[in-house]
Amino acid sequence: MYTLIAGGKVVTSTGARDADVLVDGETIAAIIDREPPQGNPAASGPAPAGPARADRIVDATGRYVLPGGVDPHTHLDLPVGGGVVSSDDFETGTIAAACGGTTTIVDFPTQVRGGSLAEALDTWHAKAAGRSVIDYGFHMIVSDLTPATERELGDIVRDGVTSLKLFMAYPDRLMLDDGMIFRAMEISRDLGAIVCLHAENGHVVDALVRGAVAAGHTAPRYHAVTRPPEVEAEAVQRAITMAGLARCPLYIVHVSTAHAVVRIAEARRRGAAVYGETCPQYLCLDESVYERDVMEAAKYVMSPPLRPRWMQAWLWEALDQADLQTVGTDHCPFWLRDKARGRDDFSKMPNGAPGIEHRLALLHARGVRAGRLSWPRLVDVFATAPARIFGLHPRKGALEPGSDADVVVFDPNARRTISTATHRMRVDSDPYEGVEVDGVVDTVLARGEVIVERGEFVGRAGRGTFLRRGPHPPSRG
Ligand code: URP
Ligand code: ZN
Ligand code: ZN
Repeated sequence: MYTLIAGGKVVTSTGARDADVLVDGETIAAIIDREPPQGNPAASGPAPAGPARADRIVDATGRYVLPGGVDPHTHLDLPVGGGVVSSDDFETGTIAAACGGTTTIVDFPTQVRGGSLAEALDTWHAKAAGRSVIDYGFHMIVSDLTPATERELGDIVRDGVTSLKLFMAYPDRLMLDDGMIFRAMEISRDLGAIVCLHAENGHVVDALVRGAVAAGHTAPRYHAVTRPPEVEAEAVQRAITMAGLARCPLYIVHVSTAHAVVRIAEARRRGAAVYGETCPQYLCLDESVYERDVMEAAKYVMSPPLRPRWMQAWLWEALDQADLQTVGTDHCPFWLRDKARGRDDFSKMPNGAPGIEHRLALLHARGVRAGRLSWPRLVDVFATAPARIFGLHPRKGALEPGSDADVVVFDPNARRTISTATHRMRVDSDPYEGVEVDGVVDTVLARGEVIVERGEFVGRAGRGTFLRRGPHPPSRG
């Protein structure tokens, strides 16, 4: 079955051109320039097919045609203790992702302390299989590095889970000490895996939290006060130092501060294999929301917390300059009834916020339209760079012959207002409530199948497959 996505402007991480995309079954067959690229008429090769040969035409006139997004940071169906679980499962969360132009996610199986990595992986496969509407990979959260865990790591990587996620925060549940982090980095280097780090100094945060609560400072705004930029900056520097000594590639998740950007940029200039991810919430929201009423502010209790507004410019600039490489969502939604557990004590509030649906719309409206990001940079941070860093490229994150036909047709001119009433995420609040965005996702193909049509989900649960990822590429991405 041939599908022709006709009449649009094809944007990749390297440029934009007027071209049609021919899809053959699950993969891209050709990108057919409507005008040969200037000075290089052979660049697109001989046109192998035209509309006459297509079984289906998707009209992309006046729209942008992009590779499907790769969200490298989601937490679906995640238990966080006390019976609280993130509110989107692999079906509801991936439907929301697809409607927002994301066709691949990488989620986080979480080792229970005392448990094995194999158990965690089996548990996440069971959560995702039969539910996910888009393809998915896993990063393995190691919360307990015992000799038995070390022996399991080779199997996990051979099973296609080629990245570990480690925590420098949450000492009571997830944190590894520096010795364990360093050892995990050495093992990862030898296995061809990359280490992802949640970089906040957990012991300092816990001491600040204890002090705040003892002083009666229990409102959500103290969540931000007890996680100041310095605890991220210190942890990022420590992580870069350890990864350099271990010669292990390093990916810092959810970078929120100018302080961290400076350290990552400096490491990259030295040639270190260090990558930084930021998230829409740090690009578009700021700490002033913590001044709102308790349950309004509760919606923004996430780690790291939101920062002063001036830091947003640093993050946009870093994305534009490729000092930061990716934008993931850290989608971790909770019902307001679960957030309410921390109404009288912020330290009891589940950390996290929704966002899986809004990554492309916000990058477009606040990035491209605001003149902070070019279209090719948007595509890079949204799709291509995460695919490259996590061993999925060129199958994912690319519009090239042979790539999976994961394609987004995006209408840059339609306007809408983000609202809990209309979002697809299964959660009763939205951090971007009332925000106007220009640009809507019109059509999404995932491995050649139309799963979003005129903005509505038309796919089916369970069509997504597990992605066995390759090793981290030896060169810098
Ligand atoms: O507050 C957040 N980000 N919750 C999700 C888990 C994590 O730390 O990434
Ligand atoms: Zn984190
Ligand atoms: Zn996270």
